[in-house]
Amino acid sequence: MKRKIAVVPGDGIGPEVIQAGMRVLERITEEETLDLEFVHFGWNADSYLATGISIPPGAMDDIRQNYAAVYLGAFGDPRVPDMKHAADILLGMRFQLDLYVNFRPVKLLSDELCPLKGKTQTDIDLVIFRENTEGAYVGMGGFFKKGTAEEIAIQEDVSTRKGVERIIRYAFEFARQHGRKSVCMSDKNNVMRYGGDLWLRTFELVAAEYTEIEHFHMFVDALTMQMVRAPESFDVIVTNNMFGDIVTDLGAALQGGLGVAASGNIHPGRVSLFEPIHGSAPKYTGKDVANPIGAILTAAMMLDFLGLPQPAKRIEAAVLRAVKERQTTRDIGGPLGTKAAGEAILRFL
Ligand code: IPM
Ligand code: MN
Repeated sequence: MKRKIAVVPGDGIGPEVIQAGMRVLERITEEETLDLEFVHFGWNADSYLATGISIPPGAMDDIRQNYAAVYLGAFGDPRVPDMKHAADILLGMRFQLDLYVNFRPVKLLSDELCPLKGKTQTDIDLVIFRENTEGAYVGMGGFFKKGTAEEIAIQEDVSTRKGVERIIRYAFEFARQHGRKSVCMSDKNNVMRYGGDLWLRTFELVAAEYTEIEHFHMFVDALTMQMVRAPESFDVIVTNNMFGDIVTDLGAALQGGLGVAASGNIHPGRVSLFEPIHGSAPKYTGKDVANPIGAILTAAMMLDFLGLPQPAKRIEAAVLRAVKERQTTRDIGGPLGTKAAGEAILRFL
């Protein structure tokens, strides 16, 4: 029986980049006779505005039970200012499918794409693990006296021992399995006294089981500075949900821009979700300018997760070739539109 992949293009440039990614996935599935079947779901702002339904009842269970992975474009539409549909679908999957690992590698694709003076591909090659099911994202809190001059808003930042331990352990395990030298844990425990304390204690406990791997702690403000000044000092970084959201955008800029960055929302051994890091970019929608590389590298990451490292490597090699020959979109210096850039990668496959 074939393994099913749910394809959710979403809003804005999502459908354009996912179409490019699907061309690559379909080609490689055919050529390598992979056991994959792709099922499309049109959940997005349009369908939400038309029906009031963000994700149909039962869909989450269907995905949990019958799918191996989700391949997602992007969510966000100016007509849905509170992002209700995005919260239900994207954050909904992260929480309800318990996708606790947000895996965001930062690997410079070519020296010319580096925004930092004097840094090269050997300097920018790190992996960020962002906790993906807790922190400020849980949506706990509320208002008191809303709309008055005395209004109070509380937003809780939740860390559990189980949640913190499993993401830190995953980071160390990854470091061990991929021959990475060090793990840096970053937070702000000089101010976030309780959650930060739990993170630091847990980090020390887990680190003690991985004596061959160096470990160090850095406040997140210092981390952002150091990522720009000396990105080569990092191998693996692990951090909480909110700080991870912020530093992975910085990481994306280091590797050549948001348009090329891939990510995985993973629960090892279970259905997991893969999406480019960029958003729906409404102002570029339908203009054939969005960079498809983020979505295509995300497809490769998904195949790797599905136990298909060879096809994944083929895709990565084709992307590197396209970058090298400047057969890319304008955001990274090429002359092409989204479709043509995707076709170039297909040719190099
Ligand atoms: C990301 C995005 C999301 C997040 C948004 C769209 C809710 O910025 O995946 O990094 O904050 O996690
Ligand atoms: Mn983000």
